[in-house]
Amino acid sequence: MFWWYSTRRQDFLRTGLLIGIIWLTLYTYQLYYFYRTDVRQYQQKQYSYLNHKFYERILCFFINNKYCLRQPKTLSSIYDRNLSNILREQPLLYQYAIAPHFINFKSLLKTFIPRINKQYLVYVCDRPCGGWGDRTRKIVGAYLLSLALNRTFIINITWPCPILDIFEPNIIKWNSKIYQNNKSTNLTVLTLSATDNDYREVLSWKSYDIIYFKTKDLGYYSMLLWRDDLYQRLQYYGFQRSTLFIHSVFTLIYELLFKLKKHPKNHIDDIVHNYELNNERTNLFCAHIRIGRNPSNPNDNIFPKREKMNITVINFLRKQLNDQCNNKTLSSLCNYTKIFVTTDSEQVQTYVQKQFGKHLLNIEGLIRHIDRAAQKVACESLEKTILDFQMISYCNSMIMSKSAFSFWSNVRRLKPYEKTYIYCDGIKSIRRAGDYEKYPYGSC
Ligand SMILES: *[C@@H]1O[C@H](CO)[C@@H](O)[C@H](O)[C@H]1NC(C)=O
Ligand SMILES: *[C@@H]1O[C@H](CO)[C@@H](O)[C@H](O)[C@H]1NC(C)=O
Ligand SMILES: *[C@@H]1O[C@H](CO)[C@@H](O)[C@H](O)[C@H]1NC(C)=O
Ligand SMILES: *[C@@H]1O[C@H](CO)[C@@H](O)[C@H](O)[C@H]1NC(C)=O
Ligand SMILES: *[C@@H]1O[C@H](CO)[C@@H](O)[C@H](O)[C@H]1NC(C)=O
Ligand SMILES: *[C@@H]1O[C@H](CO)[C@@H](O)[C@H](O)[C@H]1NC(C)=O
Ligand SMILES: *[C@@H]1O[C@H](CO)[C@@H](O)[C@H](O)[C@H]1NC(C)=O
Ligand SMILES: *[C@@H]1O[C@H](CO)[C@@H](O)[C@H](O)[C@H]1NC(C)=O
Repeated sequence: MFWWYSTRRQDFLRTGLLIGIIWLTLYTYQLYYFYRTDVRQYQQKQYSYLNHKFYERILCFFINNKYCLRQPKTLSSIYDRNLSNILREQPLLYQYAIAPHFINFKSLLKTFIPRINKQYLVYVCDRPCGGWGDRTRKIVGAYLLSLALNRTFIINITWPCPILDIFEPNIIKWNSKIYQNNKSTNLTVLTLSATDNDYREVLSWKSYDIIYFKTKDLGYYSMLLWRDDLYQRLQYYGFQRSTLFIHSVFTLIYELLFKLKKHPKNHIDDIVHNYELNNERTNLFCAHIRIGRNPSNPNDNIFPKREKMNITVINFLRKQLNDQCNNKTLSSLCNYTKIFVTTDSEQVQTYVQKQFGKHLLNIEGLIRHIDRAAQKVACESLEKTILDFQMISYCNSMIMSKSAFSFWSNVRRLKPYEKTYIYCDGIKSIRRAGDYEKYPYGSC
């Protein structure tokens, strides 16, 4: 009786122990698996996440984990093939399909089917309305507002020249025709803040078919977060308050909207190919040197704190390059070290060409501020400005100026706070989004 009891007891313990070990192994593996998820792998075209669906099924069967409940089984099981292919080819979008975002691309896409007799929100820029960083930030805000208000989103940028010369819609069709008849009503909005009054005003827009949106800032943005009716509409698409900071969703919406047309796209593709930017060994060190008024931009603002910026930033780039080329263990990488400088000054451009020679990645084009130069030259410079902006997403390191162009182009990097610096009375490290705010315009 006693031995029988003890054997049963041992069996029981052994089985329990075995189950425990299996559970612990699976649990550890699961933790490892989810925490290891590294968007860079997707950029390098090893979509390892997608190869793990078998393990994932097993794990999710055993473990009732919130990731399992929310993580798509595979992209193609929740999205049709077309959409999952698009997402897989575009790492900047793909990062939003997974933790911590889980954006519902399917329901977002449904809003893009143009419907007759719909209401519109049109982002308008027909006169100077900011540089490219500033503009795209406002476009992202306007797009979120259009989602919250259930209006078809249209972009009409004609200053300094039509944006359709350079971009076409990527996934959101923002150039669809506006259907209107002689009964259509419209309203032009120049300012909007988040006050109770302005919220009531937004509710009153219901009676207008077309809203022409021309606000100078994002004063209304917190309304999207804290007015329940607006927020709920955004939540439906997978946006959450915890990740609805404009810097967190900027890349998602920029990529959903914009796709370079064939000509500028070929230009970027050639550069990526010639400078081997998709090669894992390539290191691209970048800087935006925005010095303000100079012979290339004689009408621009004067930034008195940026006198030494040109030299300081170039010396820092020189040091980054030398660290790779003069170090015996790393010197094999020297040929793969590239430098990219985007600047508002032709003098700086010429100087860096002399300094960095074959290491310098050059995008041909005219250097002008798209908003502060005469319309004709501003228009000529628009393509280069945008290509420079897009190129930043390839950078492994970035030195910013205190500038919207710097900030928003840097946000489009897959790891925006890795090896990131700002020039503000010397070179300072930026380790998280909030760090940028520590350096006020006046002191940089
Ligand atoms: C798939 O997407 C492309 C654009 O990326 C579009 O032209 C095509 O019509 C789509 N196909 C289907 C079946 O939706
Ligand atoms: C959004 O508008 C469309 C038609 O304009 C309508 O069918 C749909 O129900 C609306 N959605 C919401 C959530 O109001
Ligand atoms: C965009 O605005 C211009 C005038 O600034 C107008 O001529 C054009 O029709 C508009 N395009 C759309 C699609 O609304
Ligand atoms: C509005 O358009 C309709 C045809 O679409 C026309 O019959 C009507 O006369 C127009 N009304 C005015 C006031 O122009
Ligand atoms: C907007 O509405 C006004 C009348 O309120 C009209 O005169 C004007 O042409 C409309 N603007 C556009 C761009 O449709
Ligand atoms: C750097 O800027 C200073 C003053 O702003 C100027 O005198 C100098 O020529 C510039 N150097 C280069 C290489 O651009
Ligand atoms: C060379 O690079 C390695 C790896 O980054 C680093 O550990 C080492 O300190 C560097 N050597 C010198 C002399 O900088
Ligand atoms: C670097 O490139 C030069 C020619 O541009 C070549 O001679 C040299 O062997 C290369 N070095 C390495 C380590 O690949």
